[in-house]
Amino acid sequence: MYKIAPSILSANFAKLGEEVINVIASGADIIHFDVMDNHYVPNLTIGPLVCSAIRPLTQAEIDVHLMVKPVDRIIPDFAKAGANIISFHPEASEHIDRTLSLIKENGCKAGLVFNPGTPLSYLDHVMDKIDLILIMSVNPGFGGQKFIPDALNKLRTARQKINESGRDIMLEIDGGVNTSNIAEIAAAGCDTFVAGSAVYGAGKDTDPHRYDSIIAALRAELAKVSK
Ligand code: DX5
Ligand code: ZN
Repeated sequence: MYKIAPSILSANFAKLGEEVINVIASGADIIHFDVMDNHYVPNLTIGPLVCSAIRPLTQAEIDVHLMVKPVDRIIPDFAKAGANIISFHPEASEHIDRTLSLIKENGCKAGLVFNPGTPLSYLDHVMDKIDLILIMSVNPGFGGQKFIPDALNKLRTARQKINESGRDIMLEIDGGVNTSNIAEIAAAGCDTFVAGSAVYGAGKDTDPHRYDSIIAALRAELAKVSK
């Protein structure tokens, strides 16, 4: 029931297809796809063309994390490019309910993303439209940052809200996740774990099995969590 979602932000972009195939072959569940626009966040990454290019390489879900403003214009493009989940930051949308509907009308699961300083009250009137809550444990824009511990409190609160809703909503964490903190993150109620630098930083670049041991180590930590 725990899902590991490597962020390809830390992959070798010169070998992106192989990086996607290898990480799934090593036991990862979901491909986390970070979209940055040099406007909402101070970095520029990848868009729908790259999503279409990796789509045929895997059956795994592609989890598109939009760090862009505005959001609505680009959503149908990602749906056509094969995204399964599309999440966005509430501050980046003028009409949160409308953006959630747009994602669902385009056949994708819809998620809201919470920066370290963003309150969970944005969930209050839209829980019925949400399939994923993504808690940022770093400020968005870059891989390789340090986990902000207050994210654990937010996960606990979000878990409570999900339980109260009675709906099947994924609870995902993003930023600074590694083998030393994944167990306490799971214990706080998280079920889906983005890990960029921890996964893609592991092993020798030439070894197709380079991700086996890091994915196994993350799962071994998760196995220690009592439910
Ligand atoms: C940050 C991105 C993350 C990032 C995580 O803005 O949303 O998905 O790739 O990278 P690590 O796991 O290295 O913190
Ligand atoms: Zn992300």
